[in-house]
Amino acid sequence: MAHKKRRKAPPDENGKPTTADIYAACVEIRNPNGKQPSKFSHVDITPYSDIRIESNVPSSEHKPRWTKETKPKGFEYLKQLFEDRGEGVREEKVKRSFWVAPMVDASDHAFRILCKRYGADGSYTPMIHSKIFMESATFRKEYFSTHATEECRPLLAQFCANDPTTLLKAARVIQPFCDGVDINFGCPQRIAKRGNYGAFLMDDWPLVEKLIKELDENLDVPVTAKIRVYDDLEKSVEYAKMVEKAGAQIIAVHGRTREQKRLAEYKCNWDFIKAIKEAVSVPVLANGGVRNYQELQECLEYTGVDGYLSAEPLLGNPTLFSNPPFAPNPSEGQPPYPLENDHSFQVFLEYIDICRKHPTAPKIVFGHLHGIVGHWMHEFHDLRDDLNENRRKYADLDALAEWVERLRARAKEIREKEGRNYPIRKMSQKQVDRQKKREIAEAIATQEEEEKMLKDIDEKDKEREKDLKLAAE
Ligand SMILES: Cc1cc2nc3c(=O)[nH]c(=O)nc-3n(C[C@H](O)[C@H](O)[C@H](O)COP(=O)(O)O)c2cc1C
Repeated sequence: MAHKKRRKAPPDENGKPTTADIYAACVEIRNPNGKQPSKFSHVDITPYSDIRIESNVPSSEHKPRWTKETKPKGFEYLKQLFEDRGEGVREEKVKRSFWVAPMVDASDHAFRILCKRYGADGSYTPMIHSKIFMESATFRKEYFSTHATEECRPLLAQFCANDPTTLLKAARVIQPFCDGVDINFGCPQRIAKRGNYGAFLMDDWPLVEKLIKELDENLDVPVTAKIRVYDDLEKSVEYAKMVEKAGAQIIAVHGRTREQKRLAEYKCNWDFIKAIKEAVSVPVLANGGVRNYQELQECLEYTGVDGYLSAEPLLGNPTLFSNPPFAPNPSEGQPPYPLENDHSFQVFLEYIDICRKHPTAPKIVFGHLHGIVGHWMHEFHDLRDDLNENRRKYADLDALAEWVERLRARAKEIREKEGRNYPIRKMSQKQVDRQKKREIAEAIATQEEEEKMLKDIDEKDKEREKDLKLAAE
């Protein structure tokens, strides 16, 4: 990698660096394996902090789209998101837009591009922890990489935070590379409870207000918010109104409460989403529980919202927004509902092709493989075992594509011989349980890794304080 000499942008009188030409397009990618997959030609300091960003395009190409003074609000913002991209204003998109929801380890750059090719209009990055992002160079290197692409814009970069100053610093680093910064007020997980962010800020409205206000008043791009509902309609509406008043220019509403963590067990509350849409004047995007194109239409119709964001169902069917005729009708079971026939293989191979251009961490690629074609592995255990035992080999995209072709041929044979479009699960209940346990253990390990980083940061903070005290004495 060609390292350019580090240079720091000189701050102007507001303490804000003025050199606006030394950074490049970037889109974060979570890379839990800790290996940055691509090589970059530039290593530069962003103009908004002394954070080093690696990139592979001329830095002068990318500046924040607006300034603090010119950034648009509400529907004008939505309108501008769907113009200036060589397409004129796509009025129908201003009325109804479809978004790839934020997904840790899953709304990666390549996946967002794939979904965009099949009907998504915009997307969110996975959630980025603002404090770790600011404090840890390792985290930035692992979780934030740079790419030049228009293919997945408009893009909202999502942060979680509980400190307005840290959030603003992190948002300033990322603002040249996205069309808005979203704050996650919806995460209900254990780690969010311990870290006091996400849906746990629903208990602290003044802090929610401060976080949004800080970005609204100081950032060059608009701020948006993703919220959950309470089990009380009136409170949910008041909350959304407060979020709007604080400065959120788009509100995405996940129609479940903080306690309703298991997605498949709770239907989303469309009445609450509808009431929020009627009560605020900024665009509202609905989220949660829609499993196919028909349900999507029903949700839009019922709630009257301005768009929809989908997460888990997209993992099984990235073409969900394009009204594919080949997706199976959802049963009462859990999403994702994979594509039928050969379509799942075509779509996954297309994803691999996008990954060739936009390197993606193997763990994320495997995750999408499971979502899109993984259901067939329940029947063909030899191929599943081969994949699991040779992860390193299949981190290579050519080898993986060849493996997918083998799986595809087996599925074709079943279709031709038995007329069957779906696999027969050959796992025993014990095996299913074991697999579930493994998945839970992996999720906990990721959380623990994040907690360890936070602990290290806290220790460093304490040491810094000690040093400062000593210096003062
Ligand atoms: C794998 C996965 C990762 C997620 N990560 C995030 C995240 O980073 N930020 C966030 O706000 N929500 C996250 N969510 C929640 C989704 O954005 C969405 O609110 C939820 O899944 C309900 O939508 P759905 O029914 O379309 O899945 C995640 C969901 C999934 C399935």
